[in-house]
Amino acid sequence: MMTNLSKGFEMSNISDMDSFSLLHHNSGTMNFGAEETVMDSFSVILMNSSTIFWTGICLWAYIFLVVLAPKPYCKCQTRLDEKVVVITGGSDGVGKVTAIKLANLGAEIILPCRDLKKGEKVANEIFKKTGNKKVKILYFDFRNLRSVKRCSDEIKKITTKIDILVNNAGVGHGVGATKDGLPNIFGVNHLGPFLFTTQLLDLLRRSGSARVVFVSSVAHLWGNIDFGTLHELDGCSVRSQFQAYSRSKLANVLFAKELHRREKNNRITTYVAHPGWTFTSLFRDFPFFLKLVAFPLFYLFLYLPEEGAQTQIHLAIARGLEKQSGGYFVSCRPSKSCPNAFDRKLATDLWSYSENVIAVALEKSLQTCTSI
Ligand SMILES: NC(=O)c1ccc[n+]([C@@H]2O[C@H](COP(=O)([O-])OP(=O)(O)OC[C@H]3O[C@@H](n4cnc5c(N)ncnc54)[C@H](OP(=O)(O)O)[C@@H]3O)[C@@H](O)[C@H]2O)c1
Repeated sequence: MMTNLSKGFEMSNISDMDSFSLLHHNSGTMNFGAEETVMDSFSVILMNSSTIFWTGICLWAYIFLVVLAPKPYCKCQTRLDEKVVVITGGSDGVGKVTAIKLANLGAEIILPCRDLKKGEKVANEIFKKTGNKKVKILYFDFRNLRSVKRCSDEIKKITTKIDILVNNAGVGHGVGATKDGLPNIFGVNHLGPFLFTTQLLDLLRRSGSARVVFVSSVAHLWGNIDFGTLHELDGCSVRSQFQAYSRSKLANVLFAKELHRREKNNRITTYVAHPGWTFTSLFRDFPFFLKLVAFPLFYLFLYLPEEGAQTQIHLAIARGLEKQSGGYFVSCRPSKSCPNAFDRKLATDLWSYSENVIAVALEKSLQTCTSI
């Protein structure tokens, strides 16, 4: 009994000791944990405050550099009643904004489009926004020179003059060839507009004070034209796509300057616009993953189409620009171009090259009866 009792006592003592040491150990852990928690919360506060600091810096930088930065804005409200305006690429982006603005000023608008349904939608939108019903939609596709020729013939039937031609349509990306077998980007951005403009020269001359506005790009500064390789199709790498784009945009600048020299006695003036980097469908062909990364940034940092369109609107309607004919403009102001853009021989050679290539392509398409 005694043994059992003392055993019981001992056991109860042991268990008391155990529970004491357990309790002590636990309380030790609890104290240690409290110190860690304090340290944790301290570093969280430090991290939070540095995150808050840098977020604040970024936010203020964004507000000053992007939101409050001066945006191009054309204040001119010159009425355009009785004026006939042709705008290419008026179905989307900065071209569409330009069409709406010029229609609002009373102009008769001719919109050649590659997608007639899209064009009709824009015509309805113009009517709803401006009340202007004088909008005509015609079909053409710069990837098919015969359709460009047909469209210009059609324009000759529906109007006796053109006061303003805005050569705005263009692509930022394009692998392969046009329907005429020409390099896609150069074909759409230069050869198509070259044929279209030269076909419409008689109507422009009849205006007595016509303007031709070319929507080029700052990318022309990196452009290079080598007649030996100009017929070669472009690769799909970012580098060769950018080279092709900048080459085509340099061609726009050279064409505008040469057109100015050839037509100044007919009172046709020419101007080149860079819209500024603008978030439009121009980037629609970016690869999916690039879109995922780039589009949120574009949304934050690039101009809206309404802002990007201001320079070309200004060049189309501002008074007193005649002395700056042939010039290059950014944010509604004259801007510096590259030495290549002032190379007169390059401009005349490009003119002859374009005429020859187009003549051959049209001849071929007549022989093969390419459908449009
Ligand atoms: N966005 C920029 O950051 C930026 C910067 C510098 C220069 N630019 C220049 O600004 C001009 C307008 O571009 P955007 O930014 O307004 O781009 P966008 O929204 O893609 O508009 C391009 C327009 O061109 C038309 N187009 C494309 N390919 C054509 C073809 N083969 N034949 C006839 N029309 C064709 C399009 O017709 P659909 O509606 O049928 O597609 C659309 O109406 C371009 O010349 C571009 O190079 C833009």
